[in-house]
Amino acid sequence: MKNTRILHGNIIYSTSLTQLAAKEDAFLVMEDGLCAGVFDALPESFPKDKIEDYGEALIIPGLVDLHLHAPQFAYRGLGMDLDLIDWLNTVTFPEEAKYAHVAYAQKAYELFVDTLRSTATTRMAVFGTVHSEATVQLARLLSEAGFGAYVGKVNMDRNAPDSLREESAAASYRETLDYLQKLSTLKSLGKISDRVKPILTPRFVPSCTPQLMENLGELAGEQHLPVQSHLSESKREIAWVKELEPGFENYGAVYAAYGMMGNPHPSIMAHCIWSDEKEVEMMRRGGVYVAHCPQSNTNLASGIAPVRHYLETGLHVGLGTDVAGGYSHSVLRTMADAIQASKLYFRCVDESKKPLTLPEVFYLGTLGGGSFFGKVGTFEKGYEADAVILDDSAIKTGYEMTLSQRIERAVYLSEYCRVTAKYVAGQRVL
Ligand code: GUN
Ligand code: FE
Repeated sequence: MKNTRILHGNIIYSTSLTQLAAKEDAFLVMEDGLCAGVFDALPESFPKDKIEDYGEALIIPGLVDLHLHAPQFAYRGLGMDLDLIDWLNTVTFPEEAKYAHVAYAQKAYELFVDTLRSTATTRMAVFGTVHSEATVQLARLLSEAGFGAYVGKVNMDRNAPDSLREESAAASYRETLDYLQKLSTLKSLGKISDRVKPILTPRFVPSCTPQLMENLGELAGEQHLPVQSHLSESKREIAWVKELEPGFENYGAVYAAYGMMGNPHPSIMAHCIWSDEKEVEMMRRGGVYVAHCPQSNTNLASGIAPVRHYLETGLHVGLGTDVAGGYSHSVLRTMADAIQASKLYFRCVDESKKPLTLPEVFYLGTLGGGSFFGKVGTFEKGYEADAVILDDSAIKTGYEMTLSQRIERAVYLSEYCRVTAKYVAGQRVL
């Protein structure tokens, strides 16, 4: 007997980068955690008693946050008048140092996960801190709340205060092994779900010595681990990388030297605002995922990422809130921010790069980042059944809306929308 759930309502999902399917009064069939299809009328072969009726609400795929920092959630909205490096040194690093205390981390991560539970996010690639135990707790809480997640213990063995910096490359490597071991033990005890996985997380080149990068690159190979980091976010950061690692032709080449620019290890690089053509080509060849974080890029005055160019080049692109470079943890909000940033790029930087459209940013926030997690991000047959029920009834209007107009409005007016139910791989998690 198959485990079947059928959601009835107004169903919206991407069928390609540019196309949204919008089906009123339709049925999304989930079987054993996978989508079995979206139907205008329910075929006889499916059991009618399994229908969960969501009436007028919108049913959309779970959203994917391809880049955020859980320990930065506590101070989101602070320090937004600083640039990246000053913000890291004065706000971020002192706070992250506190996660050495497991009780502090536990409380902060409970608040983080509790808040994220009631959002439309179902999957995330998230940074913890350098601390193994605290990051294990983050993974456990995300698992309990039903999220799919790649959770990274951060590596930093240079250019950080003593309270945060790991003692040596060897110490950072050992702490990483400890993290992987603890996660694997909890998994074998059934205390962490298979959808919550480790990801290697060298913070960025200025934080990691060549020895540490080499160790992590080897570990990725030995244990078949994906990698996440930051790349070409701010001009000051790029100049610093050039100074620290003068032998490389660009910033990305440092990661590439250690096997961290995609193939053979899947990798996510956040920001990529100032990547030159060689770096872009390196990312394309490696199948690297760019996590586009438009709100963070504006807040830290980092710049505007040329997302249209990346899409034209064939790069994988997803959306990141980059909490707390981004003060908002909403991926719906990030979609609107991505459109706005692309309009400024078009008008102020390069008029040959057309602004992103609503269907395109919807794709980036679902399938674009979702494919990093496997078959995730849409309702086509065979995809993991991640679904969100979005109640937009608080946006009062007398205007007759089509379904496509309703989702457009929900992106721009996301603060008025409420998530009333959520499913990850067919399981109800809210
Ligand atoms: N580069 C290195 N660390 C960070 C961080 O925590 N946030 C952002 N936005 N960029 C970084
Ligand atoms: Fe970040």
